[in-house]
Amino acid sequence: MYPVKLSCAQVELREFTSADIDGVLAVYGDPAVTEHLSFEPRTRDQVVATLNSVMTAAKAEPRTEYSLAAASVATGDVIGFARLAIDAQHPGQSSAQLGFALRADHWRQGLGAETVRLLLQLGFAELGLHRLWGARSPDNNGSGRLMTRLGMIEEGRIRGHIRIGDGWRDSIVHSILEEEWRTA
Ligand SMILES: CC(C)(COP(=O)(O)OP(=O)(O)OC[C@H]1O[C@@H](n2cnc3c(N)ncnc32)[C@H](O)[C@@H]1OP(=O)(O)O)[C@@H](O)C(=O)NCCC(=O)NCCS
Repeated sequence: MYPVKLSCAQVELREFTSADIDGVLAVYGDPAVTEHLSFEPRTRDQVVATLNSVMTAAKAEPRTEYSLAAASVATGDVIGFARLAIDAQHPGQSSAQLGFALRADHWRQGLGAETVRLLLQLGFAELGLHRLWGARSPDNNGSGRLMTRLGMIEEGRIRGHIRIGDGWRDSIVHSILEEEWRTA
């Protein structure tokens, strides 16, 4: 599916363009945002490389990576980075992992919840997937609360999931199934 354009009251998901460098840097360049993520704050050059890579992946056939700008409906500004990555599809599987991060000066205004609602809509209604899941740091209470509020049930802990610095970090997995999303 290309291009993606989905909107809620305050947030729209759209494809990235090369004009979004500063917007993405305001998200991924901020140590407050990456505190619980699997990578260090990104430099401008790294953000340029990220954008080039996601814009190329957006046009792949079949498309398996949906890295999208979460933009303010009111201003059009990038306020976050939203991602749906379709898992390698073994026979009988139909799932994708979600990722999301918002600019720190936009936290606690319901925008993260709107962003993830749009990712669920993309995965279930647009792409016809069966299972969507997210993995968070055990210390990431905001992400846990957000996913739980949207019906993403806490499934358990993946031990030693992510390499951070010279150690390994566990992840807590949340998921929602298509029928749960439809009846929510
Ligand atoms: C996690 C994140 C997306 C939340 O975005 P947000 O816009 O602040 O979330 P919302 O305002 O939509 O809040 C959703 C729910 O989470 C709760 N919440 C948000 N941040 C919280 C925090 N730090 N601690 C506890 N609860 C929190 C809100 O109170 C709300 O719950 P409620 O509906 O019961 O009131 C944002 O903090 C962020 O971008 N963090 C950095 C990147 C990140 O950790 N991404 C997730 C990776 S798994």
